[in-house]
Amino acid sequence: MGYGNISGGCWCLVIFCVLVSGATTYDINECDLYQGSWVYDESYPMYDSSECPHIRKEYDCIKYGRPDLNYLKFRWQPTSCNLPRFNAEEFLRKMTGKKIMYVGDSVSVNQWQSMVCLLHSSLPPQSTIIEYDDSTTTTVTFEDYGVSFSVFLSHYLVDIVKEDIGRVLKLDSITNGDVWKENDVLIFNTWLWWYRRGEKQPWDYIQIGANITKDMDRMVAFQEGLTTWAKWVDSDINTEETTVFFQGVSPSHYKGSDWNETGVTNCAKETRPVNGSEYLGGVPRAEIVVEEVLSNMTKPVSLLNITRLSQLRKDAHPSSYNAFKGMDCTHWCVAGLPDTWNLLLSAALV
Ligand SMILES: *[C@@H]1O[C@H](CO)[C@@H](O)[C@H](O)[C@H]1NC(C)=O
Ligand SMILES: *[C@@H]1O[C@H](CO)[C@@H](O)[C@H](O)[C@H]1NC(C)=O
Ligand SMILES: *[C@@H]1O[C@H](CO)[C@@H](O)[C@H](O)[C@H]1NC(C)=O
Ligand SMILES: *[C@@H]1O[C@H](CO)[C@@H](O)[C@H](O)[C@H]1NC(C)=O
Ligand SMILES: *[C@@H]1O[C@H](CO)[C@@H](O)[C@H](O)[C@H]1NC(C)=O
Repeated sequence: MGYGNISGGCWCLVIFCVLVSGATTYDINECDLYQGSWVYDESYPMYDSSECPHIRKEYDCIKYGRPDLNYLKFRWQPTSCNLPRFNAEEFLRKMTGKKIMYVGDSVSVNQWQSMVCLLHSSLPPQSTIIEYDDSTTTTVTFEDYGVSFSVFLSHYLVDIVKEDIGRVLKLDSITNGDVWKENDVLIFNTWLWWYRRGEKQPWDYIQIGANITKDMDRMVAFQEGLTTWAKWVDSDINTEETTVFFQGVSPSHYKGSDWNETGVTNCAKETRPVNGSEYLGGVPRAEIVVEEVLSNMTKPVSLLNITRLSQLRKDAHPSSYNAFKGMDCTHWCVAGLPDTWNLLLSAALV
């Protein structure tokens, strides 16, 4: 595709000149990149998903027959500045030698997948890209730059341990941290699984301190688990060496009253984002918990504040266009919304 280096370079230069000449006090670092709206942009999407190998069958909407393609054509427009265009080579050059890991549930996999596609599609075909799997982690390495992107699947961040009584979700224990902290950049997320019950619940008991119980208030459990994670970061991560992000809650779209379509119970007919910046559904309770826990931390952790901008994208879910034909208004098509999450991540990193 014809976007990229040249226009990106000019754009930066213009801003630079404006800043140097002192003609304005405008400063991109002061701009809230998360406040804005979605605008139609003919030059989108940033890549053709059919050219990205191994998009998982949950997210490959076009392959599974999605007929309306306008959802690919929206660009996030912050209110008071522009989000820089993604430049894969520049990004990889700046990240040379770094190990980047997404840790969390399938939403983390969703974002990781988008990052791999964004980079893969912009690099020359002869560039060396190696994928490596072990039991918990998938890693893609861009060998020419020595940059790797891993995804570590951990639904709750805290541990689930098999004991005599059954599987115990331990709200105050994180044992995978030693693997995570080997990385230069960490992007965490957890939320999706905290309200799962019945067959979809992957634990039998929940433990908080010495108290092992069958169940408890799930929002309290979420806050406890997240606080354990926060304490672990505060005590175990050297943030001079490792940059830590937490991804805000990724919203689902099963309740039409959240976007002024009362009675609608999924995203099946949604082909446009919500106009403007406001969302009737408001801030999810879980996001309030996330922001509270983060605000109590002593180490610097950046919130990838993607909740609102994603709430506006009722049109960006796979709905029934996935391998399972089940209605999925939780995950996101790739290409699609997670590309913007990664643009925001790269803007925060470079
Ligand atoms: C996240 O973004 C929303 C919407 O722009 C904003 O209201 C909220 O204050 C932001 N949260 C933080 C912690 O910056
Ligand atoms: C254990 O936790 C449950 C659920 O939160 C609570 O009802 C119970 O009182 C707790 N027991 C002890 C001994 O703290
Ligand atoms: C919701 O929809 C109704 C009817 O279509 C409209 O009159 C109203 O202005 C909408 N409200 C918002 C907040 O968009
Ligand atoms: C949203 O904006 C589009 C394009 O400007 C317009 O066609 C559409 O009617 C608007 N939808 C609502 C609900 O305001
Ligand atoms: C944040 O810290 C304050 C003071 O220690 C405490 O009262 C509050 O419960 C904490 N909030 C969260 C969400 O951990």
